[in-house]
This record gives sequence, C-alpha cells and structure tokens, in this order.
Amino acid sequence: MLKIMHIVGARPNFPKVAPIMAEMAKRPDCFDQLLVHTGQHYDYDMSQIFFEHLEMPEPNEFLNVGSGSHAVQTANVMTAFEPLVLKYRPDWVFVVGDVNSTLGCALVCAKTGTRVAHVEAGLRSRDRTMPEEVNRLLTDQISDLLFTPSKDADENLLSEGIEPNKIHFVGNVMIDTLVKLLPKALERQKQQDLGLTTKGYILVTLHRPSNVDDSTTLRGILQALAEISREVPVIFPVHPRTRQRIRSLNQTPPNMTLQLIDPLGYLDFLALMNAAALVVTDSGGIQEETTYLGVPCLTARQNTERPLTLTEGTNRLVDSRYEDILAGMKDSLGRQRTVPRRPELWDGQAATRICASVLRV
Ligand code: UD1
Repeated sequence: MLKIMHIVGARPNFPKVAPIMAEMAKRPDCFDQLLVHTGQHYDYDMSQIFFEHLEMPEPNEFLNVGSGSHAVQTANVMTAFEPLVLKYRPDWVFVVGDVNSTLGCALVCAKTGTRVAHVEAGLRSRDRTMPEEVNRLLTDQISDLLFTPSKDADENLLSEGIEPNKIHFVGNVMIDTLVKLLPKALERQKQQDLGLTTKGYILVTLHRPSNVDDSTTLRGILQALAEISREVPVIFPVHPRTRQRIRSLNQTPPNMTLQLIDPLGYLDFLALMNAAALVVTDSGGIQEETTYLGVPCLTARQNTERPLTLTEGTNRLVDSRYEDILAGMKDSLGRQRTVPRRPELWDGQAATRICASVLRV
C-alpha cells in the first residue's frame, strides 16, 4: 500500500489532480490518498467550484497561504507544508504543473527526504522571465519521478541531465478530465444562456503579468477586443488579477459588445471553449484543450512551453500589441478550419498509466 499525498493550489491544478485521484481511488488495496490544498487560490470561482464540477473529494488539509509576492507565497507554502510531510510521512508526494505551490511543496519534499513525483514535467518555454518556467526547471531537478505529457518534454529533461529511468511519458492528464467531462459540459448549453451562437463568438482569457500588469499593453489588448467585438461577439471571463488591473486603468470597457464576466467553472468554460469560433488566451492549459477540441487558438505570448500545440494543433502565437492582436484575430476568423491531429497519448488514459508506473518503481 502506497501513501500518496496530492497537492493542489491554483486553478489549473484541479483538472490535473482529479483524474489521478479518481484512478487511484479504484485501487484502494494499492493506494491510500490524502489531498492537500495550499490555498494559493481561494475565491469560490477560482477553487471550490472546481471541486464540485470535477467531483473531487474535500481536501484533508487546507494551508490557507493566500496571495502575496512570489517570495512570500512560496515561503508560506513551504512553512505550512513541512509539518504535514513530517506528520503524514507519505511514500510519494504528487505535484502537478508549474505554479508556486508546485515548487514550494517539491522543495520541502527534497529537504525532508520525501519522494516527489511531478506530473506535467519537462515543458519548457526557455523564457526565464516567466515565473512558471523557473518553477518548472527547479521542480524537475528535484523530482524523483517525472511524468511527461509529450515527447518534447522527455527530450528537454534528458538534455538537462535527468536520469532516463525517472522519466515516464504518460500523456496529458488534463485531457483525461476533458474527455471524461465533455459530454456533461455540452449538456449545459452555456453559450445559449449567454445569448451566443455556436461558432459565432470569440472567447478570451488573459492573466499573465506580461499582458495585464503593464497598462499600455492591457489597454491595447482591450482596444483590439472592443474593436473586433463590433463584428463578432466577444466573451471574456475575467481572472481576479486581470479584474484588478482593468479597474486600475480607470476606464470603462469601450464597447458593450465586449462582455466581461466573472471567472467560470470547469464545465461552463469547457462548453464555451468547444463552441467558440476562436479562443484568445495566454493560458498554458487552454492551448492544449483547444488543440484537442480542434478550436482555433491565438496565444498572446512570444513563446510557448507547449510547442506541440503549434506544430500539431490549432495554436498560433501573436504579439500582445493592439495591431497584432487585431490582425491575428481577423486572420484566424477568416481561415478555413483544418482537422488537427491529436498528440500522442492525449487519449484520456494518462492517469491509468501514471498509476501503473508508480506501482512499478
Ligand atoms: C497563478 C499561477 C499561474 C497560473 C494562474 C492560473 C504562479 C506563479 N502563477 O497565477 O501559473 O496560470 O495561477 O490562474 O503560481 N486572486 C484573487 N482570488 C484568488 C486568487 C488570486 O483575488 O482566488 C488575486 C490576488 O489579488 C492575487 C492575484 O489574483 O494577488 C494573483 O494571484 P496569484 O496566485 O499570485 O497568481 P495568478 O496570477 O493567479
């Protein structure tokens, strides 16, 4: 029997942990599971709603670390998490993705001699100005088991000197969740509730500091969105960080056809993504989800740690300047849709492979 401690902290972690917990729950003879929520995200619509939509168990421990600078947030995760590792003494701690909670907990594991498994290992944007890139690099260096979503991730890890026997190519766990919940999401008809027609609108999400923390950049993006919304409705569920930045611009959105709404839960967002004509984002996971769904995606970033979405999927990178975003959206809307290839092992079975691997080591 393996005692497994799973870590969640921020919104993108929930759909990655849910399928692993569900798969391990099928084998109570092999796995004894605990869930720790660091509390990096804490609003209802950034956290609790995901537990409901993803049918996740309530966390056994909640660390309540909240927001703060990178140093404060990471340090608070570490100080609150260390006593739990010492109390429960898990055989494995599972961390996912690249948020501050991922790195904070992995560091505690490395220093307390606790084995740590990193799910979604090996992704690299090669842009160290992104906090997530630093989190990815460091977490991978100190992990004992690295589960990768794609072959390029294996190559990145090997080139950084990670021992080959630690690397397990298992596929994409977030796609496990998507495959399982898409039918349920489609029943909700979210686009109709919002007065939108299928393939008749643009869905937007933006929260990266590089896009929203600089007022000139944010103003330019909002202006481009307002302009395109005269032709095609634009729906924009706004992340709390972005909401604060828009407020501090001290200007009302320039056009009422640009609909700013509160963040959405997993099922409604998936339904909206699936029925969109185009998704404009700076998220990591959404680049993958749109590739799987075959929905065109325009990513307002200069690089991506998920290059498969460019080479095999529906993703394109665009500079965040007003004229580039506007031209990119017009171009994407005018293109013929092609049927994308689904990347290898993005098949809904990644969590099954993870369970099999951890039982073998
Ligand atoms: C974090 C992750 C990012 C991920 C994103 C998804 C890091 C370094 N960043 O960024 O990789 O893509 O989550 O959302 O870990 N806030 C609230 N309510 C909440 C959470 C946050 O109001 O429930 C506000 C706070 O003012 C906070 C700000 O949003 O200061 C930013 O939150 P934070 O957790 O620091 O980073 P994110 O931008 O959410």
